[in-house]
Amino acid sequence: MFDFLKRKNKIEPIFEVLGVDMHNHMVPGVDDGSESLEMSAECIGTMWEAGFRKMFVTPHFNFPRYNNDEDDIVRRYGELKQYLADSGVEMELQGIGGEYRIDDGFQDRLVNPRFLKIGVDNYLLLEISMHHHRMGFEKVIYDIQMNDQQVILAHPERYLYLDVDSSKFEKLKDQGVIFQCNILSLSGFYGGEPQKRALKMIERGWVELLGTDMHNTTYARGLAEATHSRTVRKVLEKYEFMNRELVEKTHHRL
Ligand SMILES: [Fe+2]
Repeated sequence: MFDFLKRKNKIEPIFEVLGVDMHNHMVPGVDDGSESLEMSAECIGTMWEAGFRKMFVTPHFNFPRYNNDEDDIVRRYGELKQYLADSGVEMELQGIGGEYRIDDGFQDRLVNPRFLKIGVDNYLLLEISMHHHRMGFEKVIYDIQMNDQQVILAHPERYLYLDVDSSKFEKLKDQGVIFQCNILSLSGFYGGEPQKRALKMIERGWVELLGTDMHNTTYARGLAEATHSRTVRKVLEKYEFMNRELVEKTHHRL
C-alpha cells in the first residue's frame, strides 16, 4: 500500500517526448504567475522532473492589469536565468515570448510592436478573453499574420463561450493559426468541459503544441499528477506535437 502511494507521488518524466515548454508564467512578480524566484525554481524543478528540458517564458501582457513593459521583462528574465543557474536547476531557458491578450490596449501595442516572440520564426503567443466574445478578433489575428508573424492561440479549449463545433475554430485553422492546448486541461485540472474540448481538438488534428501554462506550486502539483493521467499518456503516445521544432528554429538565444 505504501509502495503504491510512493509510486503515485513520484513524478514520471513523460513529457520528455515534448521536451520544450512554450507557455508559462515563471518570470516572478509580473503577472498572476510565480510570486518569487524561489517559487519559480520550485515549479521549474517539477517541470524538469516531468521531462521538460528547455523552455521559453511567456508573461502576460494585457491591459490594464498586466501592462508589462518588454524591457523590464527582459531584465527580470536575466535575473531568473541567473537564479536558476545558482540554484542548480538544470532547465535551459531558450528565450522570452509574451502571452499577449487581444484587448483594448492591444491596438496600441500593434502600432509600436516590440513583441517578445518565440523562436526566430516569430511565433507570437496570443490569447483572447476567457469570458467575453470580442468581435473581430479573427481580423486582428489575420492582420498580424499578414505582417509575417506566426500566431499561436493559447488554450483554445478554455474559451467556453465559443462553440467548439462552430465554424469559428475551423476558420482559424484554415487561416494557419497554431493551436496550443494546456496539458492541465487534458488531465481535468480546469474541469470536464475544457478537458473534453481539448481532446476533441486534438482528435481533429487542430493542435500543434502542448504547454504547461505553469503559474505556481498548485499548477506544479497538477503537472506532477498529470504524469500519472492515463488520458495525458494516451495523447502523448498517439499524437505528435511540434514543441521541439520551436527550439530547433531558434538560432539566437537571449
Ligand atoms: Fe498563460
